[in-house]
Amino acid sequence: MAVKRIGVVGSGLMGSGVTEVAAKAGYEVVVRSRTQAGADSTIAGLEKSLGRQVEKGRLDDTARAEVLGRVRACTDLGELAECDLVSESVVEDLPTKQELFAELDRVCQPGAILTTNTSTLPVVEMAMRTGRPELVCGIHFFNPAPMMPLVEIAPAITTSGDTVAEARAFVEACGKAAVLVKDQAGFVVNALLFPYLNNAVKLLDGGVATRDDIDAAMKGGCNFPMGPLELLDLVGLDTSLSIIEALHDESSDPNYAPARLLRRMVTAGRLGRKRGAGFYEYPKK
Ligand SMILES: NC(=O)c1ccc[n+]([C@@H]2O[C@H](COP(=O)([O-])OP(=O)(O)OC[C@H]3O[C@@H](n4cnc5c(N)ncnc54)[C@H](O)[C@@H]3O)[C@@H](O)[C@H]2O)c1
Repeated sequence: MAVKRIGVVGSGLMGSGVTEVAAKAGYEVVVRSRTQAGADSTIAGLEKSLGRQVEKGRLDDTARAEVLGRVRACTDLGELAECDLVSESVVEDLPTKQELFAELDRVCQPGAILTTNTSTLPVVEMAMRTGRPELVCGIHFFNPAPMMPLVEIAPAITTSGDTVAEARAFVEACGKAAVLVKDQAGFVVNALLFPYLNNAVKLLDGGVATRDDIDAAMKGGCNFPMGPLELLDLVGLDTSLSIIEALHDESSDPNYAPARLLRRMVTAGRLGRKRGAGFYEYPKK
């Protein structure tokens, strides 16, 4: 099947990013939010992002208008019926994603590929909620999706070779490099990254160093572009906690137990940049 029309479900950080990436690659994109306000703000966010690129001379006005013309936002999942490939980016919660995959299976045309942007949850658990487990695959973009060059392709044990080939073709058409990874919690990048981020919160909670010194230490000592606490704020603390919990559940390794302070911050609604406060404070956009 030639993939032409992409469906995106979820319009948070990742859904918006994937929408922009796919539309810039020339695909028609239908993005589904749960509310009309969410749909409107997805289009407004895309306009703002493309506008910034025009200001910086990275995009011309014609290309900006063409990209916008390829994106439609909706609230009804049924509008994804004619999509050839769907990218799911809703909250990192398995029951929510499983329910969504069952619904996508009902509404999407036969042969459509259903993909998840999950960071850690088992792809096979979503695949088996559909009548097309051979057409379900993990396609894991990184945040911010328009900037980050890598994508992990994570086939479930049910995914067909043709689906993996289509997934790779889509990723490459989006201008990204693909690595093929096993359907295992955290794949490669997050299996390595999140124990480190979690330990940074444990160091902060234990009073080993201040927030600023922990971030300065890893930037200066390891030449990382961001400190771990800044990075957690960028990812979102709720998403980060879900990722660490999934790593912990799958490995049973006590070293992966989520940091207490991380849980407390999520409970307090300090979710990072997207909410204006996490380990740092952010001005309202
Ligand atoms: N944040 C990152 O750095 C990052 C990177 C790669 C992949 N991911 C993955 O992408 C997915 C989305 O993460 P995000 O960072 O965009 O989160 P987000 O909080 O920015 O957005 C979550 C989206 O899910 C929707 N949602 C919430 N509850 C829902 C429900 N019950 N039913 C349907 N939709 C619901 C929200 O309305 C929102 O559109 C997660 O699976 C996450 O693991 C995140």
